[in-house]
This record gives sequence, structure tokens and C-alpha cells, in this order.
Amino acid sequence: MAKMRGPRKSPGTNKAEVPTTSQTTSPPRLQIDWRRIFIRILMMTGIMVAVYYTKATDLVTFVTQKEEVLSRSVDITCSEDYAQELLHFPGCTPRKCGRVVFDTLVKPSEVAALLNIAKRGLSMGGSTGGASILDLHSGALSHGNAFVNIFKLEEARNLFTEQDFKIYSFVKNKIHKAIVDHFGIEENKLYLTHPTFFSRITPAPPQTVHDEYWHPHVDKETYESFHYTSLLYLTDYSYDFEGGRFIFIDKDSNKTVEPRSGRVSAFTSGSENLHHVERVTKGTRYAVTVSFTCDPKHAISDPVLQR
Ligand SMILES: *[C@@H]1O[C@H](CO)[C@@H](O)[C@H](O)[C@H]1NC(C)=O
Repeated sequence: MAKMRGPRKSPGTNKAEVPTTSQTTSPPRLQIDWRRIFIRILMMTGIMVAVYYTKATDLVTFVTQKEEVLSRSVDITCSEDYAQELLHFPGCTPRKCGRVVFDTLVKPSEVAALLNIAKRGLSMGGSTGGASILDLHSGALSHGNAFVNIFKLEEARNLFTEQDFKIYSFVKNKIHKAIVDHFGIEENKLYLTHPTFFSRITPAPPQTVHDEYWHPHVDKETYESFHYTSLLYLTDYSYDFEGGRFIFIDKDSNKTVEPRSGRVSAFTSGSENLHHVERVTKGTRYAVTVSFTCDPKHAISDPVLQR
């Protein structure tokens, strides 16, 4: 019986066990609880390690793949250049610059349809390196170490349907509306712009500069016409691929957006949103970049089926 193993106290034995050095005024012996001290040291070390790693990586997750958010946003002060430029486009100036993520805007069936368009289109080509694009507006498709026009490819003649373009425009319009509402701008002052494209990223080693998607950049500097950038993820971080997280580079700490199928991430395109995409180390990452401008000169109309 377990009980029997415990220390048994009986006045008789107790007396005998206490070592006595002097019969009279022996001070009470200091009880050092080594176990407690050990646990304390362990806890302190743990805290120090945690603090060290947070400091060392300075990587904060803005939104994880696992969670589903109705919307999550953060306001950021607009960069000076961005604010100055938008003065020329009344009605298109954001209440605040920043970032916002929506997970329920685009339905799973719509994501599936778009992923299917991307896969179908990219099956006609694809980069030799890790990054491929398909632009339904211009028809640009990565092919080997260059690009071809998918609308001119004989083998791609009946690849797309009216329905594909309908879905694309429908989803694009939802994103447009969400950006308009979130940033507090006028619906008819924000236009779709070029380039707007599907992307596929694999771990294949880069062959050309077009495969190097991981360099930190500001969208406004890469593409002059951009004022609001949005990304719609078509596959899931840590399930479909590894690496490939989107990272905002801030002074204090970097913030990651983990791609989640159906997740829309939108942000103002100025230098307040310097960012990069981590290199994909495993699997395949699909996304759509849908870009908007305030400048009617750079507006493009919805893509249409070309026969
Ligand atoms: C954020 O990421 C950039 C680019 O990878 C890196 O150079 C920088 O050190 C990171 N910042 C912090 C605070 O960790």
C-alpha cells in the first residue's frame, strides 16, 4: 500500500532522528529547498531565452494561417511621398494608410475556381526558375526563361471560358469594394491597374531576375501606377507549401501574414508598406495580385475572353 511508504511519525523515532550538536540553545537549522531554487532558475532561463529570441528575430505574426478573421487591420502613418502624390487624386486618399486582412470575403468555391484558372493557364508554360506568372489582361505567361502571350498560343485556344472571366471580375469587384470601404475612399475613384496577375512559386532555383521575388521592395516604386495593392491567397502556408510568408518590414519588428486559402491582404502601396515574400522551401504557393490605382490614366478594364 502506498500509504505505508510515507514517512511515519511517531514521537519515539522522531526524537532519535534529530541530530543534536548541543543539548541547549541550538539555532534552528536553515532549510534550503534546492528543488524550488532549481525550478526558479529554470523559469528564469526560459524567460530569458524567450526574450532573446523575440528580440533576435523581431518577427511578429500579424495573422496566422490557422485563424479565420472577418477583418484585421492596422493603421500606419502614410509615407510622405505617398501622401503628397495622393493630393492629386481627391476622393482616393485613404483615411489612414495601413494594412487589412479579410478571410471571409472570397468564398471557397471562388478560390477553387481561381486556383483552377491559375493551374490551367500555368500548365501551358511556367518559369524554369521558381516564380511563374499568368496575367489575364495582357496574356503574359512565364515560359522557360521568358514570357509568351497565352492568347496567341495555339494549344491554349480553348483553355479559358466566359465563366472564368466572370469569376475573376466578380472577385476583383468584391476586393475593390472592401478596399474602398476600409480605407474610406470613393468607389468611382479607384481603378484596377496593370499588372494584375496569378503567381505560382516553387522552391526551384532562380534562373532569371523574374524568379527573385524575395527582395524587400515598395510596390509604388516597383510599379508606378500602384496606390493600393491586394493579394488573394489560393493555397495554405504550412499545408501546401513551406516558407512563402508575406513579411511587412517595419523599424521596430517585422510582421508576417501567413497565406491562407481565400485570405485577402490589402495595403497602401507606399513606402509605409515595405515588404517581401520569404523564399518558398517546399511545395507550391499560388496567389493572385490585384492592384488598384487612383490615377485614371493607368486604369485598365476587366480582362475579357479573347478568341
Ligand atoms: C526585417 O526583415 C528585414 C529583411 O529580411 C531584415 O533586414 C531586418 O533586419 C528585419 N528587421 C528586424 C527588426 O528584425
